[in-house]
Amino acid sequence: MAELIDGKKISKDIKDETKEKVAALKEKGIETSLAVILVGNDPASSVYVSNKKKACEYTGIRSLSYELPEETTEEELLKLIDELNNDVTVNGILVQLPLPKHINEDAVIKRISPDKDVDGFHPESVGRLSIGERGFQSCTPAGVIQLLKRSDVKIEGAECVVVGRSNIVGKPMAMLLIRENGTVTVCHSRTKDLREVTKRADILVVAIGKPEFIDASYVKDGAVVIDVGIHRKGEKKLCGDVDFASVEPVASKITPVPGGVGPMTIAMLMNNCYEAAVMQNKL
Ligand code: GUN
Repeated sequence: MAELIDGKKISKDIKDETKEKVAALKEKGIETSLAVILVGNDPASSVYVSNKKKACEYTGIRSLSYELPEETTEEELLKLIDELNNDVTVNGILVQLPLPKHINEDAVIKRISPDKDVDGFHPESVGRLSIGERGFQSCTPAGVIQLLKRSDVKIEGAECVVVGRSNIVGKPMAMLLIRENGTVTVCHSRTKDLREVTKRADILVVAIGKPEFIDASYVKDGAVVIDVGIHRKGEKKLCGDVDFASVEPVASKITPVPGGVGPMTIAMLMNNCYEAAVMQNKL
């Protein structure tokens, strides 16, 4: 029986810590703020944005909301980002992805000042992460590191296998695990013998976007399994990239879906906003 890694509890702890740090900044006359931009009416994005605003409220971060129509042009969006870049009362800028097809996402990400890039998606943030410099860390992989550390999982020296190589999760996840002195292998759809590689993992992080793909046959006895995926399973249920019922009996620790990695992303975003306020005020 694996021990459950409780992302709900750990994310609440992090939000509570951030709330205290944000309040301490306020005592010094500094208000932490986040601008959230949503373009169009994607229902999932609306839910994410509303959850980000709620987390801001909880932690005492001022949130500014920009809900723009689907027809917004790239030029208009870039102009808004320029204004927010130049607004000293705004510490963090987040553009909810995906954007409508007529807008170039890369151009938008690059336009956000790296000093306000609380998502950690700007090439400068990515570069800083890969050479170990201070900068914003992508929220989901940073959340996975916190889940491991706060569950007493030793990363140093561990065989870490990341399944998935996306810019948002897989690649930054590998960088963060290297930074923590793990031995890291990244697998993807062209990996020849996936089972052979994942079976070596002491820590297995799965972010492939395929429902319940990883069953017990991919997992070493006693491995720690982190499931980044989230999918709808029928009308009401959710599931991850890991077949929980199959893997749970062989893992030593495992994240559930929901309630594992999911809540960590927003908690880390709140912490990045606090860090942004600290850096911009040269504290
Ligand atoms: N869409 C899905 N996840 C994310 C995220 O972490 N940040 C942004 N900006 N958009 C997303």
